[in-house]
Amino acid sequence: MAEPTLWRNTRLATLTDDTDWGLIDDGALLVDSGKLAWVGALRDLPPALRHTVAREVDLGGALVTPGLVDCHTHLVYGGQRAREFEMRLQGASYEAIARAGGGIRATVAATRAASDGQLLQSARKRAAALLAEGVTTLEIKSGYGLSLQDERRCLSVARALGNDMPLTVCTSFLAAHALPPEFDGRADAYIDAVCAWMPVLQGEGLIDAVDAFCENIGFTPAQTRRVFETARSLGLPVKLHAEQLSDQGGATLAASFGALSCDHLEWLSEAGVQSMRASGTVAVLLPGAYYYLRETRLPPIASLRLAGVPIALASDHNPGSSPGLSLLLMVNMACTLFRLTPLEAVLGVTAHGARALGLGDRGRLRTGLRADFAVWDLEHPNELAYGFGYNPCRRVVAGGIDLSS
Ligand code: NIG
Ligand code: FE
Repeated sequence: MAEPTLWRNTRLATLTDDTDWGLIDDGALLVDSGKLAWVGALRDLPPALRHTVAREVDLGGALVTPGLVDCHTHLVYGGQRAREFEMRLQGASYEAIARAGGGIRATVAATRAASDGQLLQSARKRAAALLAEGVTTLEIKSGYGLSLQDERRCLSVARALGNDMPLTVCTSFLAAHALPPEFDGRADAYIDAVCAWMPVLQGEGLIDAVDAFCENIGFTPAQTRRVFETARSLGLPVKLHAEQLSDQGGATLAASFGALSCDHLEWLSEAGVQSMRASGTVAVLLPGAYYYLRETRLPPIASLRLAGVPIALASDHNPGSSPGLSLLLMVNMACTLFRLTPLEAVLGVTAHGARALGLGDRGRLRTGLRADFAVWDLEHPNELAYGFGYNPCRRVVAGGIDLSS
């Protein structure tokens, strides 16, 4: 990695601003010490930099984009919920299954029963599938442990993935995901516990951001506020599962805490859009969950667009509402189901996904940013949105490291 490498003979989709693809033909990337030391057309490479090049890689004209960012996943858990899928196909609703003790609670039981090794091994396989499709930055939430020790185990597995694999992993503490059985009927006492665990796990270096599930079948806005107040007192950024199944005013609440993102948003009101605009909060849309729960109410895309709220996309990988492992499928679905343009959808899994994680050092191909990029067997970046069900990713470079070598 230390030797400056020139990646040349490519078509670059730089995405340097949000208005077009930023295509550069016969492009080159000079990578030094894990960063993009120079980006442009090869003929414009200054001779002084050309002399620093120790190694050259000819990409044969292939398309290069920034490495993809999956900014919302629940990747660490035990078990699976295929039986629930069958029940939902026979008419049972997601809410009814959750209220009957299935849903998230079923995964909590399976996660608690799994060993650390099992959790790590299954999460590693999932992360590897995402990485093979060009993902270089991955957010992972806790939320299937729901005790101090089990939340710690899940966050530690996420950290271990970030250390073992050539990926950046950002962790979100989502203990306010569901009420664990030992707190039945005592949701406020559970929130007290969540707030007490937060500084402990932060002290162990396990938390990058704090999330909550503000919903009829999750936690109330008042309970969510208490979680956010604790996060703020600890200097931790917040994000929220907001307005997925009903309008709880969660987005406005989250925006008042300067949230990095509000996610799902099918029931987001116009007031919520305006709050997010004012606070610069990213709208993370999750077409996988919309599709898999067979929702019919669309997020307010036109309002978000008009207000200039940045839109990101993520897999929301989880065993209940979105058990898929293809971020590119989300790009395609965001276009077909949500009517995003291919450019909006690709920005959603690059620059805007990075912003949803508070990361300003990636998501575009620009001098000074991290050398995270993907090489594709494609001619134009709009093909990332066009196809589905196959993987056109040929090569992935993360922090300057070529993962294919
Ligand atoms: O993002 N909405 C809450 N959490 C997950 C689903 C979790 C589950 O069903 O296990 C989501 O869709
Ligand atoms: Fe989620």
